[in-house]
Amino acid sequence: MPYAHITGWGMSIPHKVLTNEDLSKIVDTNDEWIRDRTGIRQRYIAAEADTSSSLGVDAAFKAIMVAGILPSDLDLIICSTSTPEHIFPATACLIQDKLGASNAGAFDLSAACSGFIYAMNMGAQAIRSGSVKNVLVIGTETLSRFVDWTDRNTCILFGDGAGAFILQASEKPGGVQGVVMHSDGSGGEYLSVPAGGSAHPASELTIRNGMHFIHMDGKEVFRFATRVMAQATQEAVTKSGWKIEDVSLIIPHQANSRIIDAAARGLKLPIDKFMVNVDRYGNTSTASIPIATVEAIQNNRLKPGDKVIFVGFGAGLTWGALAAEWSGPLPSEHLLSAEWYKPWARVRSVYRRIMRVLEGLFFDRDA
Ligand code: ACO
Repeated sequence: MPYAHITGWGMSIPHKVLTNEDLSKIVDTNDEWIRDRTGIRQRYIAAEADTSSSLGVDAAFKAIMVAGILPSDLDLIICSTSTPEHIFPATACLIQDKLGASNAGAFDLSAACSGFIYAMNMGAQAIRSGSVKNVLVIGTETLSRFVDWTDRNTCILFGDGAGAFILQASEKPGGVQGVVMHSDGSGGEYLSVPAGGSAHPASELTIRNGMHFIHMDGKEVFRFATRVMAQATQEAVTKSGWKIEDVSLIIPHQANSRIIDAAARGLKLPIDKFMVNVDRYGNTSTASIPIATVEAIQNNRLKPGDKVIFVGFGAGLTWGALAAEWSGPLPSEHLLSAEWYKPWARVRSVYRRIMRVLEGLFFDRDA
């Protein structure tokens, strides 16, 4: 049975920075309150031209180049997002087109901030089963488009960004190990975007009542998060046959530094075992774990052979943890990097659109 190794990684962040000071000019808040209660100092906000797919594509290309593969090598693209561009088509399909990933299936996965753990598990199990060899897993968010910028309870928390991993099959032992996924829909109302789906289709009333924005009971989410983070970490460690002392680094969902502190206390581990960068990015939901991973690599906090835990929680309610033996890139079969593929992917997309129009004109007339 092949193992699923993490062989590529990338992140993409919009240019615009929004500091706590900036926020204090929009709502009744201040830098001290936000830093004390959340650890956040700033977050990045998507420009008008940035979308969940454009950030996702940028992160994905970087991950593909680290892995030394081409977009055409991908068998499957899983895009975890709570801020898809549309209800359908899936953001994963928009990304597939922009990458020119001509051989890949593509779908979105919705599990809020736990989504990257869920998506990694789906990708890894597809590899373990032997049905695919190369999987792109993306976490991408433009949460700023769903934030009520008059609500100080929520607008201080969220930021935009994307991260991506490449998973590859190899007979060499390692890669993704024990994974746990949990849910409790009875707590769904604590964190939601109430309208825009089939329960409350968009209408003048839903917009007037702000039902298309993120609604959150911060205290309940906080209580839930502090309970499950340590517990899920311990479960993934046990499932992998490891001891908690074996773990080199824990990369948690970056929602609030106090939640990460509570997880460290619950596991009786020093805080330096945890990767923390919520101060600079805010809560980027499903993108936060891959973004934190890329920074951990840049800071030499992850090396091949290290045992790492990814752990997250979010709306649903959902939570989960994934244990992995860190791998790094496999030997590449390609002489050229995927950089040259970017313009080709654009040409391919235009060509396919033109061909579809021509097929419609000349071949489907009598159908
Ligand atoms: N600035 C200043 N004061 C504020 C602000 C603000 N931005 N927001 C709230 N306050 C006030 C409140 O009005 C309240 O005032 P009051 O006592 O006069 O009523 C006081 O500060 C305390 O408010 P609390 O809500 O009790 O503050 P708390 O300590 O719980 O912190 C927070 C709030 C930061 C939201 C915290 O509850 C939290 O982090 N919860 C988890 C949220 C989270 O992680 N969500 C994302 C989940 S992942 C996903 O799926 C997207």
